[in-house]
Amino acid sequence: MFGRVKSLDAILATAEKKSLHRSLGWFQLTLFGIGSVIGTGIFVLTAAGAQKAGPGLMLAFAIAGLVCIVAALCYAEIASMIPVAGSAYTYSYATIGEILAWTVGWALIMEYAIAAAAVSVGWSGYFSGTILNEFFGIALPPWLAAGPLALGGAEGGLINLPALIIALLVTALLIVGTSESAKFNAVLVAIKVVALTVFVALTFTSAEFDVARFNPFLPAGVFGGFGTGVGAVGAAATIFFAYVGFDSVSTAAEETKNPQRNVPIGLIGSLLFCTVFYILVAAGAIGTLGGQPIMGPNGIPFPAGSEELAKQCAMAQYAQELVCSDEALAHVLRSIGFSAVGNMLGVAAFLALPSVILVLLFGQTRIFFVMSRDGLLPEKLSKVHPKFRTPYVVTALTGGAVAIAAAFFPVGQLADISNAGTLYAFLMVAVAVLVLRKKDAGRKRHFTVPAVWIVAPLTMLGCAFLFFNLPIQAMLFLPVWGAIGLVIYFAYGRSHSHLGRGIVEVHEAELADIEPDIPGIPDRGRP
Ligand code: ALA
Repeated sequence: MFGRVKSLDAILATAEKKSLHRSLGWFQLTLFGIGSVIGTGIFVLTAAGAQKAGPGLMLAFAIAGLVCIVAALCYAEIASMIPVAGSAYTYSYATIGEILAWTVGWALIMEYAIAAAAVSVGWSGYFSGTILNEFFGIALPPWLAAGPLALGGAEGGLINLPALIIALLVTALLIVGTSESAKFNAVLVAIKVVALTVFVALTFTSAEFDVARFNPFLPAGVFGGFGTGVGAVGAAATIFFAYVGFDSVSTAAEETKNPQRNVPIGLIGSLLFCTVFYILVAAGAIGTLGGQPIMGPNGIPFPAGSEELAKQCAMAQYAQELVCSDEALAHVLRSIGFSAVGNMLGVAAFLALPSVILVLLFGQTRIFFVMSRDGLLPEKLSKVHPKFRTPYVVTALTGGAVAIAAAFFPVGQLADISNAGTLYAFLMVAVAVLVLRKKDAGRKRHFTVPAVWIVAPLTMLGCAFLFFNLPIQAMLFLPVWGAIGLVIYFAYGRSHSHLGRGIVEVHEAELADIEPDIPGIPDRGRP
């Protein structure tokens, strides 16, 4: 079972035949990383993070950022060594074997698809709050603006219509093969960075800024207790979402000039940049509006996204709190007298978040495609549209599922579930790095993790640590999802696996055919 390990040489033969032009430098990679990373996490989940940790949210951003930076080092080594589509799934297939690779691929589906749903819900908050409400004076009825499946049932939510629509729109774009140009990506990155910079500048210089608001700094402690998902570490497990997407930089490794130097700079540069920015944004929000959680009767914060919290937020005394807002950052600016700038920030989120959904959905369809190409999922799924040259079956199926999840679940819960899958995948990448160091020590690596026997175990520990600080529902989702995946594997994948059936093929033709450019990456120079 564990014996089915894909030959690294066969995988690399595929990569070689693809022979993409190496055109990317560190700056473009960093820009691409920042473009994929900044999204709902900072624009929306800041509220949920504050509800879990209070001002300790700043510490939470630092913890999650650190875990991502060590994970990024592992990604950088393996991505520069196995620079092919499929990311952690492919790395695992070549190192720890088919069944574990399947579980990683299955977890990645969870990461990307559910993250895309979470960003759709985050976008919906800004669309309803800023575009509809502030600009057109239209208040969407609550039953159309939120899903019903919050913990314990959200007040009055039936369907999140804007989230459903944006998920379907992005899916349609992917089916017709729209890919974002590098210039367009650069514009969106600039919009996001300018919006956050203005936010930091205005909040830090505001007369409302008061250091007293940081006290108590850790109202829910560092550890809020197993399964509760609160405290600074619980917030870190949620806010980890704000960094998800940096792994997409690794998928561009094969197009990078001097990957030894540029891939790690791109990965770590974008992460460091975001970490510093996120901490400043959190400090600005808390220093001006305050970010203390609303406590339940037992002295523990009400769970973010729960019905109990929604009830509290409906009361006049709490309605203006940071933790009650669906568009946290715009709300902060409006509350401290910058309504117009707050609305502009809302417009920035409205414009930029769909491209994050695009990158995530794109990543998801690519994993699906590679898995079905390996025979582990029905090949029909990877059927390419005759006119658009896109894997339309898998894109439509995924997009439909994403839209449904976005319509019915709250953003925080979706982010937590997505994080559970991502943390598992990151942990396996660290394992794969160590296995390859032992098994294939002589192979050329374009980047090597410094002090790998410290960094890789640290990545594993960090991922496990964050995972075990997620709310219990998100934690349980992973084994349940994994069990469903294993049933499918044993019912279908195991007997259809190309590797199992002795079929070794090089697929460069189809892959070149279907792959539109990675959203936001310059022309891939395909021959
Ligand atoms: N990191 C991305 C976001 O925060 C997924 O939206």
